[in-house]
Amino acid sequence: MRKTVMNRDILKVLVDEKQIDEITTRLAAEIDRDFDGEHLVLLGILKGSLPFMADLMKKIKSNPEIEVMKVSSYGANTKSSGSVKIILDWQRPNIGDCDIVIIEDIIDSGRTLSYLCEYLKQKGARSVHTCTLLDKPSRREVEFVPDYCGKTIPDEFVVGYGLDFAERYRALPYIGILKPEVYKKA
Ligand code: IMP
Ligand code: MG
Repeated sequence: MRKTVMNRDILKVLVDEKQIDEITTRLAAEIDRDFDGEHLVLLGILKGSLPFMADLMKKIKSNPEIEVMKVSSYGANTKSSGSVKIILDWQRPNIGDCDIVIIEDIIDSGRTLSYLCEYLKQKGARSVHTCTLLDKPSRREVEFVPDYCGKTIPDEFVVGYGLDFAERYRALPYIGILKPEVYKKA
């Protein structure tokens, strides 16, 4: 494996490329264990879940459908706005045939996924489950437990592997803690 070059704004690497590979392998096996694939739809939440979704789908053996939605997230700071807005919806006439697994980068307050689960159930999905790469349970504002979770992390603002601060750092191949002075000066 190639050596990771640290971005100068990163305080510490929290999940390296090898750990990410192990996590996606484990989660893909868990999803394959639970779904035969006939109705399975992986629904990625843009943009943060992109690298995670891409790695995960390649390891799932049951040939799922792939879809995306986009919802509002953080602006140019590290605090959630508190309300969830759908920016790009998923139009599907036969949603009743779909076992949806929502693919998310991180759960913080829990608002995004609890809203989306409710929204998709209301639309008549056959089933709705959630798969998150990271979880910060200490930050919950609404009760929410994901069905599949890559790693539980402490209350730190992290970037990389899809996760951003002000739309930057998404392309880093690892997940790192951002130096607080980077977001304090923004
Ligand atoms: P929630 O609705 O508060 O659970 O927010 C989830 C969303 O907040 C995620 O999809 C991310 O876009 C964003 N988010 C939460 N924590 C972080 C973080 O540490 N780094 C980057 N984005 C984060
Ligand atoms: Mg997100």
